[in-house]
Amino acid sequence: MRKPILIANWKMNGSLQSNQALMVRLLPRLRLFRKTMDLAVCPPFPYLFQVRDLLGYTGIMLGAQNASSYVSGAYTGEVSATMLQEMGCRYVLVGHSERRALYGETSQDVSAKFRSVLGLGLIPVLCVGETLEERENNQTRTVIEQQIQAVIDEVGLASLARGVVAYEPVWAIGTGETATPEQVSLVHQDIRQFVARCAPEASGDISQELRVIYGGSVKPGNAFELFSLPDVDGGLIGGASLHADDFGTIAGALAEASGVLTGECETE
Ligand code: PGA
Repeated sequence: MRKPILIANWKMNGSLQSNQALMVRLLPRLRLFRKTMDLAVCPPFPYLFQVRDLLGYTGIMLGAQNASSYVSGAYTGEVSATMLQEMGCRYVLVGHSERRALYGETSQDVSAKFRSVLGLGLIPVLCVGETLEERENNQTRTVIEQQIQAVIDEVGLASLARGVVAYEPVWAIGTGETATPEQVSLVHQDIRQFVARCAPEASGDISQELRVIYGGSVKPGNAFELFSLPDVDGGLIGGASLHADDFGTIAGALAEASGVLTGECETE
């Protein structure tokens, strides 16, 4: 059974004061779920230290929103995976659509990042997804397969499955427009089938092991329905993760949808 996972992506939001206030409200709400699902918070780089201290020994993990594919050197403004590891990060988002669209990251860049994150024993969260234009041109499947294929070419299929794939339709991110359960279901199924096709001999195992989560305007009101879909293993939450009550409710929806509240899912 795949362990559910919920990740907060704060993006470029927060301050020392607001982070503290958010975490003080959030931690008691998440404590209920920390054994039955993987939970992570990805603040902006300057706040990693603060959030690490606030997380303490709660079992909730620290994550980062990006990493350089280089180890060190003359790369002004970049942060390496080694540095993130030293700061106590467990997860690193790679290839978020905002990185791809606003900072020109290619699938090759993203794959190199995936490799460097995984190489340090951290868990890369590979974000994939189509733009509205690509969806309207019926290119959703091709685009997502290409994004995943680039990582498989770089690290191999087994290594892909050591990370997490986050399906985030670009048109649903931060827009309030969520993909319908049918749309999400179809893409998640496609991703699993694609992975199965990449390794026919080991297909059963790897495609069934891979955790595929959904992101894009997940809110308390739609979380349960989305997380109840059979191929959805959790969520990557942007806007709603900045509100303790909303994120807590979303965690509750994931626990309920995955059956972990009723003991249907193995915990460790
Ligand atoms: P959103 O962002 O929940 O605000 O749509 C999701 C993400 O970008 O990871």
